[in-house]
Amino acid sequence: MQSLFYFLFLVPLISGALAENDYLPPYIVPCNFKDANFETCVRKQIENSLRPFTKGIEKMHVPSIDPLNLDDIVIDGNGLKLTFKKASMHGLSDSELTEFKINLGKEEQSFKLAFKGNLSLTAQYDADGQILILPIKGNGDAFILAQNIEVEMNCLLLQYNDSKGEHLKLGSPNYKYDIQSTTFDLKNLFNGNKQLAETTLQFANENWRQLMDDLAPSVVKQIVRACIKVINKFFSKLTIKQIIKDYHH
Ligand SMILES: *[C@@H]1O[C@H](CO)[C@@H](O)[C@H](O)[C@H]1NC(C)=O
Ligand SMILES: *[C@@H]1O[C@H](CO)[C@@H](O)[C@H](O)[C@H]1NC(C)=O
Repeated sequence: MQSLFYFLFLVPLISGALAENDYLPPYIVPCNFKDANFETCVRKQIENSLRPFTKGIEKMHVPSIDPLNLDDIVIDGNGLKLTFKKASMHGLSDSELTEFKINLGKEEQSFKLAFKGNLSLTAQYDADGQILILPIKGNGDAFILAQNIEVEMNCLLLQYNDSKGEHLKLGSPNYKYDIQSTTFDLKNLFNGNKQLAETTLQFANENWRQLMDDLAPSVVKQIVRACIKVINKFFSKLTIKQIIKDYHH
């Protein structure tokens, strides 16, 4: 009975009260803060909205992060100079949530989110030097596929007020990652010398972990930064009360 009342009267009232710039995408349904299953409810919301959310919410000016354009990546050390320019990462929208925790209304509020996916990176590479013992030299198209990469981030959950009311905000994150396997495809190695290219690529793929130890931190850092940015953009557009029912301190 109560929920019928809510549905018939309050929902139209709330929706009507949402001005144009208070747009909430239809696939996000506010969870009730007082509900014992609040955390599970929010987790479901995130699972359901991960795909459309990562593709961007135009009406809220939340940008897409799939694909995600990355800043240039430069590895310079251990006898290898390797740069990736015009790098673009695909696959965040197909990733799945693996862990979620929200601590809201407690003394120290926090937010934890982990996801796993197959992420591919396309870029223009330039390589000169050696990987471990083999020489590598060339430039051209690069394609890197990281399989089952899991990224976990932990943030403080902060709040601030503006003229519309109280908003949530994620603080600067701690994060870690784990990768199951990686394959590299670098076109035009050694000016197209197939023999040399194949040997070096095979070696790079057998020793992918060493290469990723140099490469992944910069990439993961950019992924995490982008995730935090779009989430905070989303939070900035709506007050806590618009995204969480029955919220109070
Ligand atoms: C990544 O790809 C592999 C192989 O295609 C698949 O088994 C796995 O489920 C995928 N992982 C995710 C998180 O989608
Ligand atoms: C925001 O405003 C509310 C109500 O006016 C107040 O209780 C709360 O402490 C304020 N929050 C911050 C972070 O200033």
